[in-house]
Amino acid sequence: MAKILTGIQSTGTPHLGNILGAIIPAVEMANSSNEESYLFIANMHSLTQIKDQNILKENTFLTAATWLAFGLDSKKSCFFRQSDVPEVTELAWYLSCFFPYQRLKLAHSFKDKSDNLKDVNSGLFSYPMLMSADILMYDADIVPVGKDQLQHLEMTRDVASRFNNLMGDTFVVPEAKVQDDTKYIIGTDGEKMSKSKSNIIDIFLDDKKLRKQIMKIQTQSLSVEESKNPDQCNVFKLYKVIASEDQVKKLHLQYTAGGIGYGEAKELLFHEILNRFSINRQNFLELTNDRDRVEELLLEGAIKARKQAQNVLKRVRSRVGY
Ligand code: ADP
Ligand code: TRP
Repeated sequence: MAKILTGIQSTGTPHLGNILGAIIPAVEMANSSNEESYLFIANMHSLTQIKDQNILKENTFLTAATWLAFGLDSKKSCFFRQSDVPEVTELAWYLSCFFPYQRLKLAHSFKDKSDNLKDVNSGLFSYPMLMSADILMYDADIVPVGKDQLQHLEMTRDVASRFNNLMGDTFVVPEAKVQDDTKYIIGTDGEKMSKSKSNIIDIFLDDKKLRKQIMKIQTQSLSVEESKNPDQCNVFKLYKVIASEDQVKKLHLQYTAGGIGYGEAKELLFHEILNRFSINRQNFLELTNDRDRVEELLLEGAIKARKQAQNVLKRVRSRVGY
């Protein structure tokens, strides 16, 4: 069985897109794998963008609570915070000595970020080396990621092969498992839901705020009586990923026949979100009231992760003659 590893940056509360696109599939994969999986919060990567310690801490907590609220079994998987395994920065250094500067300069994500951010620090530039270390540190075979991360995975494979060729077999060369981008969840404006745009649905908000976010979904301006094309409606598109097949069929008929307004459709979506995620919302609330428990689980995970990290680092250090 393959060893699965994935990380998620802690740049805010994970939204519906992150949950359906990344968290639920990774939790299912990890819980059903016979091998130990590695799931971690990339809070050192977040430092490239966030410089406020309280925000960093809070985002890390919210991200951890989301994974746990979606049933991550921290006994079965190694669930930890990147910053609790400082060995990763040592490995990142070794890797960066085996990777050409010119290739790092070609990273799309650096180009995108350096065009859009005020704080273009060198951590952003060497980001792919830290990510490679995250992966190679645990001998991961499979890394589920979004399409935007594919180039980072190619760099990881590349640096692992370069090191192996020059220094002798040391690293497992991992495979990416890329999320199907036709399945991206849209946000309230109809574009891909993303933390960087103000179009997210945060399923952990209280009922009133959550309802308000859903009421913000942009629609055409057709009257209640008019027939509507469900496939062109943002509310329907979201309903389709949340509700059961029968419910979707029913709403499809109502749209095409006319007689249902966007307000009513939004109410249906709101109730379906509450319904589908009621256990997760309850779990999340409980974790918010028991932060020590989350801390305890992360520290337990870090002990397991560090043990593995130290083994791999020993292998690498001996290869470079330290
Ligand atoms: P964001 O775009 O909100 O900053 P990230 O880039 O941090 O999100 O993505 C974290 C994970 O969530 C990635 O695996 C990514 O593919 C997935 N993801 C992000 N947005 C969506 C979306 N709208 N639909 C499905 N999956 C998503
Ligand atoms: N760069 C990834 C993202 O922004 C997060 C990440 C950091 C990661 N280290 C990783 C993902 C290792 C997979 C494996 O989404």
